[in-house]
Amino acid sequence: MSLIHTIDKLEAWFGYKDRQNKTLGFVPTMGYLHEGHLSLIKAAKSENDLVVVSVFVNPTQFSPGEDLESYPRDIDRDYRLAYEAGADVVFNPETDEIYMPGSSTAVEVVGEFTKKLCGASRPTHFKGVTTVVNILFNIVKPDKAYFGQKDAQQAFIIKKMVRDLHMPVEVVICPIVRESDGLAMSSRNVYLSSEERKQATSLNKGLQKAEEYLKSGIAGCGSVEKLIEIIEGTIKSQNLGVIDYVQILDAETLGDIATIEPGKKALVAVAVKFGNTRLIDNRVLSIEKGI
Ligand code: PAF
Repeated sequence: MSLIHTIDKLEAWFGYKDRQNKTLGFVPTMGYLHEGHLSLIKAAKSENDLVVVSVFVNPTQFSPGEDLESYPRDIDRDYRLAYEAGADVVFNPETDEIYMPGSSTAVEVVGEFTKKLCGASRPTHFKGVTTVVNILFNIVKPDKAYFGQKDAQQAFIIKKMVRDLHMPVEVVICPIVRESDGLAMSSRNVYLSSEERKQATSLNKGLQKAEEYLKSGIAGCGSVEKLIEIIEGTIKSQNLGVIDYVQILDAETLGDIATIEPGKKALVAVAVKFGNTRLIDNRVLSIEKGI
C-alpha cells in the first residue's frame, strides 16, 4: 500500500505493478473517508486486481463562500482506512499537480438536468466535478470507477459524460450507506452540532414516509405534489433544517413528472441546510405495474 502525491510516482507504481495486465478499480474521493467511501473501495477490491483511491479536495467544484477551506481533511486517517478497506494506492495530489499552471480547459455536461436539484443552488458545481473526474480518469486510466448513489445527480451526470465522450471506463454506482439512525453518511456530518445531528435524521424519515405512502396503494399515492408535501412536512416538523429542495424526477432522465407511474422509477431527492452544513439524501422509488 502506497501514499503517492505525484503523477510521475503513480506511473512508476503502475509500471512496478505491471498494471497493463491487471484490472484497475478507481475510487475518486475528497477524503475524510467514511463507511460510504469504504463500501466503494471494498466493491472495487472485489471486482479488480488493483484499487486506486484519490483524495483530492477539488477547488473548482466549490463556489465562493462554500466550505473549501474548512472541508475536513485528515490524510493519515484516510490512508489507514483506505488500506484496511483494500486499497493499493492512495493518490493525494496537490492542486497544481491536477490543474496545470495556466490551465484553461473545463469539461461540462449540459442539459436541463444539470440545472435542477443541486445544480440550481450550486450552478458551477458539476462543471468542476466533471472536469476533475476527467482529469483523474486521464491520469489513473481505470477500468472501473466507483461512485455513491448518495450523490445521485453527480452519478447521473458522470455516467452521461462517460457515455457521451465514449470514455473507456465503466461507471459503477454503489448504494447509500447510512448511520444506524438512518442518516446518510457524509464527510460533512462532522460539522453538525448534536441537536442538528439529531434533527438531520428527518431527511431519511421524510423519504421513508414518502415511500410508505407511495406503497400504500391508496388513490393518488403516486402524486408528486402529495409526496413532496409529506417529506417537507417531516423536515419542517423540526426547527433547525432549512429546505433547499425536495424534488421528485424521472430517475432515468431527471425530467419533471407529476405522478410516479407504475413501472417507472422516480428519484426522490432532498437537500437541507443545518446552519452552514448542507446535507443531501435520496431514494429511488417505484410501484409495480398492475398494483
Ligand atoms: O463525490 C465526490 O467526493 C467528488 O465530487 C468527486 C467525485 C471525488 C470529485 O471531486
